[in-house]
Amino acid sequence: MVIAVSTTKGGSGKTTVTINLAAAFAQKGYQICIIDADTGQFSALKWAKYREDEQAHISVFQVAQDKLNREAKALSERFDIVLIDGRPTLSEVGDRIVMASDVVIVPVMPSVFDLEAFQDYVPRFQQVKELKSEIGGKVKAFVLLNALVVNTTIGQEIEEAVREITTHEEDIYLLETKLMRRVAYGNSPTNGLGVVEETDKKARTEVMSLVEELEKRVTKNK
Ligand SMILES: Nc1ncnc2c1ncn2[C@@H]1O[C@H](COP(=O)(O)OP(=O)(O)OP(=O)(O)O)[C@@H](O)[C@H]1O
Ligand SMILES: [Mg+2]
Repeated sequence: MVIAVSTTKGGSGKTTVTINLAAAFAQKGYQICIIDADTGQFSALKWAKYREDEQAHISVFQVAQDKLNREAKALSERFDIVLIDGRPTLSEVGDRIVMASDVVIVPVMPSVFDLEAFQDYVPRFQQVKELKSEIGGKVKAFVLLNALVVNTTIGQEIEEAVREITTHEEDIYLLETKLMRRVAYGNSPTNGLGVVEETDKKARTEVMSLVEELEKRVTKNK
């Protein structure tokens, strides 16, 4: 199974979600690897290098854009889950990520810019999904509301707007699990950790809920 975390918007939490899913799935016993498709920053690659020897080893691969599809398929033979950390762009590489994936997680933060980026992403995703279905492939997108702050009007407005879009679109769903804005998400990568390997219980619980929701809706439902 190939799960990408991708959006057109920079800084919406792609790498944060990717590395936290990797650490959490690894903790649950899945064989997991990451393809770092963000060739400008290679943040996931750096994160894996910061990990200590006693942590579960997570392999991170750099793959040339034009080999993404083939490499992701090859890796999915060896690993239960291949995560792709995407690049913030509405361009060919974004399309290639969708082509290479079974599932795309789209993190959206509570800002009008994130919402607009998501609105732009929807038709592009649908186009690539159709292309993919012509060659017998399938892909679904799941929106993940990220870095929410409790009881803020903007948070509620963005959630409503995303809910509205996802109810009318085919194969684009809103995840029930939401990630709140927490210091732990900023701190844990410093030591190459995911929040499930750290002490913030609330952050741990929400990432585990995300994994369980994905298990229910995606990985065990293939
Ligand atoms: N739930 C959260 N709570 C607090 N901070 C968060 C959360 N999610 C992400 N961040 C912070 O937001 C910033 C951007 O996150 P991240 O680097 O994961 O985004 P990105 O989409 O990968 O960015 P880029 O487009 O540059 O690759 C980071 O400083 C990260 O620590
Ligand atoms: Mg990133």
